[in-house]
Amino acid sequence: MNTIRILLSLFVLFSLSTAIAEESSQSTLWQKVREGQTGYTAVTSAPNMLIDNRGQNWRQLRSATIATYGAWLLSGLLLAFAILLFTRGRIRLEKPRTGKKITRWHESERLLHWYTAILFIIMALTGLLLLYGKAIFLPYVDKAQFAFYLKYCMIIHNYAATFFLFGFIILVFVWLVHSFPRSEDKQWFMKLGGLFSHEPMQAGFFSAGQKIWYWIIFWVGSTVVGSGLYMNLLIFGQTTSGLQLASILHAGFSIIWIAAALIHIYAHTLGREGSLESMTTGKVDETWAKQHHSLWS
Ligand code: HEM
Ligand code: HEM
Repeated sequence: MNTIRILLSLFVLFSLSTAIAEESSQSTLWQKVREGQTGYTAVTSAPNMLIDNRGQNWRQLRSATIATYGAWLLSGLLLAFAILLFTRGRIRLEKPRTGKKITRWHESERLLHWYTAILFIIMALTGLLLLYGKAIFLPYVDKAQFAFYLKYCMIIHNYAATFFLFGFIILVFVWLVHSFPRSEDKQWFMKLGGLFSHEPMQAGFFSAGQKIWYWIIFWVGSTVVGSGLYMNLLIFGQTTSGLQLASILHAGFSIIWIAAALIHIYAHTLGREGSLESMTTGKVDETWAKQHHSLWS
């Protein structure tokens, strides 16, 4: 009887260990396949790859990593503005206005700014709806309705892109002249543009902060526009991997651009007294000019 029991236990142990070993070797096998292990396959889109995993990796990067970090970054910024306003308040004019107005922007420059800015806001809103629409709206609308909204978002995004492109290219050319680094930018950086001190900032026509915004538009903007055009104009023999890379670059860099735009908008509206009128009327008060652009005024 004892011998039978021992034999039975040995049998159960053996079966269990074989099953565990098999499962672990299967998971190792699938892990290798998922990692791109080569072998014979009849799939033609990705030669020798047993499973074409790129779609899954792309979806993971776009819909999990970029979308999640993007949401944290944008909402974190809004919170930071609220905290800054509450603790530091606006950057006020240190001296009373003199009433003397200095021309800062001509009509053509203001037209260029608002044309590009309004189209940017349309692109950003439709883009964010494409990226986050599923998470925000799908629980409340049916799938057919949702597909209809996405289709129109994409159409608006694509049409606006054509017009936006003109504004973007002209803006980058026209304001390059103000954007080269100069020695006085160091002081602006060290004092964070007067955010926590009350002394006049050394700045020419563009401060260091404005130059940073310009170069973000130049580099980040070029990546967003370039990747957008690459996805839209299917004339370069685009491959699946190329389109996936473009989609990742487009989504990631547009989040960075939107974040920088939020800082720009905050700095020129709630953040600083007297800035907005510069781009709405084209003129600024002498006191504002002396405080923020002492080397220009
Ligand atoms: C509601 C949105 C926006 C507001 C209220 C706004 C406001 C302003 C103001 C007041 C200025 C003049 C600053 C000065 O004279 O020193 C300015 C300049 C500028 N804006 Fe905007 N802007 C907005 C959106 C945008 C967008 C979306 C872009 C580009 C994508 C943009 C690009 C620029 C550039 C390149 C300058 C010159 C550099 C600078 O002053 O930072 N703006 N903006
Ligand atoms: C010439 C300009 C542009 C073109 C041609 C363009 C084109 C496109 C295309 C084709 C898509 C769909 C991508 C996909 O399905 O994976 C897209 C999505 C998107 N675009 Fe643009 N775009 C342009 C400018 C912008 C700008 C200025 C922004 C905002 C800063 C922006 C933000 C977005 C976002 C957030 C998405 C969603 C990304 C996703 O769902 O993966 N785009 N764009």
